Amino acid sequence: MNVAIFIGSPRVNGNTATMANRLTEHLSDNGVNCRTYYLYHHKIQPCIDCRRCKAEDLECIQNDGMTVLYKNLEWADVIIFGTPIYWFGPSAQTKLMIDRFRPYFANKKLYGKRAALLLPAGSGEGDCDMTIEQFKRVFKALGMELIDVITLEAYDEGDAEELLKKHDFVQDLAIKIMQKEEV
Ligand SMILES: Cc1cc2nc3c(=O)[nH]c(=O)nc-3n(C[C@H](O)[C@H](O)[C@H](O)COP(=O)(O)O)c2cc1C
Repeated sequence: MNVAIFIGSPRVNGNTATMANRLTEHLSDNGVNCRTYYLYHHKIQPCIDCRRCKAEDLECIQNDGMTVLYKNLEWADVIIFGTPIYWFGPSAQTKLMIDRFRPYFANKKLYGKRAALLLPAGSGEGDCDMTIEQFKRVFKALGMELIDVITLEAYDEGDAEELLKKHDFVQDLAIKIMQKEEV
């Protein structure tokens, strides 16, 4: 099984990264292939609505930091989106990537893939509702299945680490991801 994790936080030691790294540990220990991408390390141009992805080969014509991300979205059986909540929504870098999913609406290359969300927020679950709803609609449009959402009330770096010591929500997600493989 291949799992690609996309981290939409600029903080490489932040709460999203902590959740993502913990997930990778659990999955890798069980032989799952994991790849992690920090979206802020990729120059992602905005979708320019040129509509070329709706014609011919149904691909995006822009050649930028998304090129490698597209490859790995398609490589994955399970796609994990981690983003801090910024103003009740996903971070801007995460939204840049979502907008670039437009080719997948037509070419259906993400169809049937499973997904999960890692969402730290200073105020916790209450501020995650619009982000969860947005992703749910994106997944529905692309034919993807949402496995689970983990929200954590985490603000400072290290907060997620402390919370996961009390209950390892990420391990619960890892189990759900791997259960499907056994069916
Ligand atoms: C620009 C900005 C906007 C934010 N907006 C919210 C918000 O609307 N609700 C909330 O609960 N936390 C908000 N936060 C706090 C972050 O979600 C929180 O610090 C999170 O743990 C950061 O994750 P990271 O460590 O992975 O970067 C905001 C932080 C920033 C920088």
